[in-house]
Amino acid sequence: MTETITHDVIIVGAGLAGSWAAMVASREGVTNIGVLSKVYPLRSHSGAAQGGIAGALNNIRSVDGKLESVPVGESGDDSIESHMFDTIKGSDWLGDQDSIEVMVNDAPGIIYEYERMGCVFSRLEDGRIAQRRFGGHSSPRANYAADWTGHVLLHTIHEQALRHGVRFYSEWQMMELIIEDGVCRGVVAMDILTGELHVMRAKAVMFATGGYGRVYQITSNATANTGDGVAIAYNAGVPLLDMEFVQFHPTGIYKHGILMSEACRGEGGYLLNANGERFMENYAPDKMELAPRDLVSRSEQTEINEGRGIGDDKQGIYLDLRHLGAERIMERLPQVREIAMSFLGVDIIDEPAPIQPTAHYSMGGIPTDVNGQVVIDADNTPLHGFFAAGECAAVSVHGANRLGTNSLLEASVFGRRAGYAIAEFIKGGAKLHPYSGDGVSRQRERLDNFMSKSRQNGNGRGQPEQVAAIAAELKQNMTDNCGIYRTEEKLLIAREKVRELRERFKRVVVMDSSQRFNTELLTAVETEHLLTFSEVIIEGALNRTESRGAHFRTDYPKRNDEQWMKHTLAQNTPEGVALSYKPVHIFWDRYPPQERKY
Ligand code: FUM
Repeated sequence: MTETITHDVIIVGAGLAGSWAAMVASREGVTNIGVLSKVYPLRSHSGAAQGGIAGALNNIRSVDGKLESVPVGESGDDSIESHMFDTIKGSDWLGDQDSIEVMVNDAPGIIYEYERMGCVFSRLEDGRIAQRRFGGHSSPRANYAADWTGHVLLHTIHEQALRHGVRFYSEWQMMELIIEDGVCRGVVAMDILTGELHVMRAKAVMFATGGYGRVYQITSNATANTGDGVAIAYNAGVPLLDMEFVQFHPTGIYKHGILMSEACRGEGGYLLNANGERFMENYAPDKMELAPRDLVSRSEQTEINEGRGIGDDKQGIYLDLRHLGAERIMERLPQVREIAMSFLGVDIIDEPAPIQPTAHYSMGGIPTDVNGQVVIDADNTPLHGFFAAGECAAVSVHGANRLGTNSLLEASVFGRRAGYAIAEFIKGGAKLHPYSGDGVSRQRERLDNFMSKSRQNGNGRGQPEQVAAIAAELKQNMTDNCGIYRTEEKLLIAREKVRELRERFKRVVVMDSSQRFNTELLTAVETEHLLTFSEVIIEGALNRTESRGAHFRTDYPKRNDEQWMKHTLAQNTPEGVALSYKPVHIFWDRYPPQERKY
């Protein structure tokens, strides 16, 4: 039976951003918080991040290329300013520098807050938190727990959220965002177990729904990462920011995409082509394998495209860790070793592991300010009662390319800040606004349509379509035509293909007619979301006639600050995607644009 559920606050997503916000708002005195998660909360994708969380703690320094712990009382080489500059440079000057400043300043504090909550970080001999190198960071500032960092952070914050009385709705799929007269009033969601739809009303809603790597064929992302929040916000009229910037991680398991942490290279791993050459010396002679991800992934792809790839299809590259030795691998990279053994049958102690670039992270998303407040235009007009943080959001600390370990940091910092802002909003007298909509009927109709008998018979509009086939063609299309290297010609093909798939999607039929745990139905809903924002990625990429960070146009290979140092805003209109632009926040006296070299 359909029931209306009411909370003060509804948070969608139980990863780091959502759980931090829920825990903090509850700790600040908001008692009635519900967190929806489409998976069991501890399976949220934050737990899959492996190598570390960035923060200039200065426990480790590099001397003559070797790492040593900084004696207590002495100063290291790292600083908040250095973290800030590295992040700005990594972003290819598209990150908003005021947001970046907030993030790097909050970093040490949030890491110590995790520590005080009992997080099991790896330790130096004297007990301080261990740190390692990561790509694009000029000092070792990845604070880690072996290669389980996201996992231990998530367990720590989930436990605290439970302790503070947060209610979790496990395995609930959000279907619709309710906005009336410019005020966010709740969501419509499905309890996946029963298949029932519910209106969930709230004074404040926050999205922390993660990324959308699943729109690509090879991805490090979990199956749940289908960008539901991004698509649903866009359908509800919220513009999306900088969606053309999609990060490819250099080391996904060959043919699977599963993450082999950048910590492998942080610990000293090499990348080798089919000729056994450490090819990064041709692309980033200074930083080598620890150049930022956009550059390393492009270098790998160039090697592959020029015929120096490995494997039966020559689409792979070797990640060689043998010289690190068994002891170090077992201590620092135990999960990576297990993953390579399970999915490749390779023990990285004895053999190099075949890897390839893998779709990993979306820099763009729902635009917010530094307190998680969603903003809907170039003037940063707030959308009353709607918040977002984590990968689905774009507070724009990553700009055109994110540095590794800055995502666990971003999700934690801006999740926590959103929690404080939501608490202030609720305690400041936020109202439960009346809701005059049509309840669950729109979503009921959407689901019933997928399963309708007339569609199964062709519906008078042509052959019924299988959702799996459409999803597979979409992923192939995005990989081939809107991936690491882009051109106008390819992007136009990508656009046409998505249009064709959207038409065919109208004839999709779900054969499983059961109500309970209908995963085929869920896949149809998710695939519709993938189709929705694919168009936004493609339109943004087509229009941006330059190369910056992860967006590389071989027909426009240079960065063009004069024309393109601006954020893309994409609005859903009856005529399709409408693009507009918004300035980047630059501290001109401190961090003016420079050429980006490594
Ligand atoms: O490679 C990794 O361990 C992933 C970290 C990240 O994306 O920040």
